[in-house]
Amino acid sequence: MPVVRFIPLGKSREIRAGATILAAANQVEVPIGQSCSGDGICGWCRVTVVEGMEHLSPPTPLEKKCMETNSFSLNERAACMAKVKGDVTVTATYW
Ligand code: FES
Repeated sequence: MPVVRFIPLGKSREIRAGATILAAANQVEVPIGQSCSGDGICGWCRVTVVEGMEHLSPPTPLEKKCMETNSFSLNERAACMAKVKGDVTVTATYW
């Protein structure tokens, strides 16, 4: 199963393939901002992908719209929508 690592917190979680980064974060009590509960509107769940971008699902049209609206950088994804397919390492400015 893929592993999601949260740096610099030193936490990680093995999670079933296809689960979101947000699901992994919730399971190890890593705080991730959100105000739309994963509806793809707020963009508060932005995380920076340090390693393993290729192991995430391609952005859906909804995530693409969220990323554009909220001016995401190329190495950022919405944790509530990015699905994990392999090992990935992420960080956020407030950790
Ligand atoms: S929680 Fe709102 S876009 Fe992810």
